[in-house]
Amino acid sequence: MKLGKVLVTSAWPYINVTPHIGNLVGSVLSADVVARYYRLKGEEVLMVSGSDEHGTPIEVEAVRLGVKPKDLTDKNHRRVVELFKKWGISFDNYTRTESPVHKEFVQQHLMKIYKNGYIFTQETEMLYCEKCKRFLPDRFVEGKCPYCGHTPARGDQCDACGRLLEPTTLIEPYCVICKGKPVIKTTKHWYFDLAKFSEKLAKYLNENKQLPTNAKNFSLNLIKEGLKPRAVTRDVGWGIPAPFPEAEGKTIYVWVEAVLGYVSATIEYFRNRGKPEGWKAYWFDKNAKTLYFIGKDNIPFHTIILPALLMASNEDYNLPWNVSATEFLQFKGEKASKSLRIGIWIDEALELFPADYWRYFLIATRPETKDSNFSWEIFAEKINADLNDTFGNFIHRTLSFINRHFDSKIPEPGQLDAEDKQVLQNLKGLVNEIAEDFEACKLQSAANGIMGIGHLGNQYLNEKEPWNLIKSDEAKAATTIYVAAQLVKALAIVSAPIIPHTAEELWKMLNLPDSVHHQRWDEALKPLPANHKIAEAKPLFSKVEADEKKLDEMLEKVRRAMAK
Ligand code: MF3
Ligand code: ZN
Repeated sequence: MKLGKVLVTSAWPYINVTPHIGNLVGSVLSADVVARYYRLKGEEVLMVSGSDEHGTPIEVEAVRLGVKPKDLTDKNHRRVVELFKKWGISFDNYTRTESPVHKEFVQQHLMKIYKNGYIFTQETEMLYCEKCKRFLPDRFVEGKCPYCGHTPARGDQCDACGRLLEPTTLIEPYCVICKGKPVIKTTKHWYFDLAKFSEKLAKYLNENKQLPTNAKNFSLNLIKEGLKPRAVTRDVGWGIPAPFPEAEGKTIYVWVEAVLGYVSATIEYFRNRGKPEGWKAYWFDKNAKTLYFIGKDNIPFHTIILPALLMASNEDYNLPWNVSATEFLQFKGEKASKSLRIGIWIDEALELFPADYWRYFLIATRPETKDSNFSWEIFAEKINADLNDTFGNFIHRTLSFINRHFDSKIPEPGQLDAEDKQVLQNLKGLVNEIAEDFEACKLQSAANGIMGIGHLGNQYLNEKEPWNLIKSDEAKAATTIYVAAQLVKALAIVSAPIIPHTAEELWKMLNLPDSVHHQRWDEALKPLPANHKIAEAKPLFSKVEADEKKLDEMLEKVRRAMAK
């Protein structure tokens, strides 16, 4: 399927802390894999995201640390940019919500909506902490969810049932800083009249063919329950100043501005390249596609709030084409928590194993249909059985055989027998299935398909036994190895989106020109010609320790070293 322009985006990580591997898998890592795939397909891909710097998650952390929010986000943004590079995340623009382009765009966009009559003001009662002398919006307050009873629910959302909340609806609320009981104070706020878009949103959701059922049903249900006006201003100091008349001192609600970052990041990318109009091709041309990779708690912001904000400008923006939302990655059955030392963070992960080990593991166990649980046992199995024994071993058997017996040249094949032909036929089927999986954002299944090629190759070698043939029937050994080499080449291309560093190493080992990342997907099935000389084969992976206790100890050691 030819798509043309593809905008690939991922949720903007809150930059109060370094993300953990569960944050990464559904958002930034999934987006990277799919962006890399579409680049191989020859589409005009643009991949954008950025650091989500505003809002109460940051302010709460800054208050706790006793630092200025901007100092905190400056430091963390720099660090995360560096880490994403090490993870091999191929952003075209990874920006931040403090970017002047973003702030300007958000203010202009909200003023448009305001002038279009979709924003109204209202005096309202808000929670206020007299001890801390501040209003308590969003994450400054916790309490019991008025819908499902879960504790703690935050002022803006309940993690258990996913519903959007208003702080005053929380049962038994408390200030997260001092744990004190808030009082109610009257203040004026600006509201986005979401309900005006109920019908249009339902139509958009129903007509969207790509949208997975989890996102679609959840969102349609919210509309059925009745959309409530959403406050777009806050009484906090940290954020983008609200642009409305008489709104001095108010800032914009973080979610409303962050989701507009997808547009502003595209604008910024093209401005930096001296093509200020370039962004419009992604946001208005109807053949451009926009893909969003997020965790499930972000669904309503991407399927309701963002589309409504885009509709409210009365311009013909492209609405999300696909929203791929993952479930949560749990750690020993619990949510990651830095203070409780539950989880693995993206910096310490890389101190333990190379990025591609994690990338493969995370994609192969991506929580697509239900929450998944991290365990070292599964990690070791995925690395040892899949990457090392299946993928790496097949490649190494084939290439080292070529080094040793054929003077490092792809041998000239003789007549292909039925089995040889069948293997190549199966390869073709697998390559096509993997492409379909990437397109459907079934990344776990794509990872399986890649291992399928490795299995196919290992089985084929086991049946043909070229190490025996080489003594009895050299021509047949040559044919076998020629066929196996085609599988190796295909593996370099199809694995490139998931394990980009390894795929590049393999491409070099095959002594092929340029970079694997500049190739086309079709190249996977184009034969490596006879007599092409390859480089020396080296193992691509090594096994990891399989003992849970030892792995936990390794992690502890890394943590201690990093804390110094
Ligand atoms: N910062 C949010 C989170 O981590 C995600 C923001 S997505 C955006 O849950 F689109 F709004 F930026
Ligand atoms: Zn709830």
